[in-house]
Amino acid sequence: MKIMYTDTYANMSRRAANIISAQIILHPKTVLGLPTGTTPIGAYRQLIEWYKKGDLDFSQVTTFNLDEYLGLDGSHPQSYRYFMDNQLFDHVNIRKGNTHVPDGTAADPEAECELYEQAIKEAGGIDLQVLGIGNNGHIGFNEPGTAYEKTTNVTELTESTIEANSRLFASKEEVPTKALTMGMKTIMHARRILLLVSGQHKLDILNAALHGPITPEVPASLLQLHPDLTVIVSTEDIPADF
Ligand code: PGA
Repeated sequence: MKIMYTDTYANMSRRAANIISAQIILHPKTVLGLPTGTTPIGAYRQLIEWYKKGDLDFSQVTTFNLDEYLGLDGSHPQSYRYFMDNQLFDHVNIRKGNTHVPDGTAADPEAECELYEQAIKEAGGIDLQVLGIGNNGHIGFNEPGTAYEKTTNVTELTESTIEANSRLFASKEEVPTKALTMGMKTIMHARRILLLVSGQHKLDILNAALHGPITPEVPASLLQLHPDLTVIVSTEDIPADF
C-alpha cells in the first residue's frame, strides 16, 4: 500500500490525474473504474485540461462506474450517468458506447447487475479502479455490514448515506433509498486501485479503513488486502469556491 499526503485539494487532484493519465498513455485501451462524488471532480477537471491541450487521448478507453441510484434515469441531474457525462465524458473524446454506468431504470435490476458484471469481464476486467470513501467507510454503495463476496448488486442505502447525499437533492425524501453497485468482490478484482480522500472529516474513517481490523463494518478496510493500492489524501477540504 502506498499512501501520499497532500496539503491541498488541488494537489491531490493533480496527483490523481497524473496516475490516471499515465495509465491511459501507457495502455491506450485501458479499462477504468470510476467514482462519482465531490472528491474526484478536481481530478476529472485536470484530465479534461490535459485532453484539451492534446496530451491525452480517450478514444480507446473503456469505463465502468461504481454505481447508480435505482429509479433515476440518466437525464436526472442527480443520476450518476448525468454526473459523469457532465464532469468528464462530454468534455473528452471518449466513445459514449464505451462508458458504462448501471442502468437505474432497468426493468429487472437484478438482471442488469448480472449484465454489468458480465460486461466488465468481457472488457477484460478493470485495470485501474478509482475510488472515494464515504463518511461511514462505504465504497461505491457497499454500506457497512455488506458481505464481501458480493458482485454487482442491488442494495439499500443507509440512513447516513441518504443524509450525506441529501445535500444534492431538493429534500431528503427525494434521495433514492436503493442503488445498483459494484460489489466489493468486483472492486477487489481490479488490477490497481487508487483511493482518493479529501478533508479532515474523512481522516478518522480512513485511519480505521487502512489501519484498523478488516471488517465488513468498515467496507473500505478490505482494501488493505489489495496487492496494488495507492491512497492519495488531501488534508484540506474541497474549497467552497471550487
Ligand atoms: P464524496 O463521496 O466524494 O462526495 O465525499 C464519497 C462517497 O460517498 O463514496
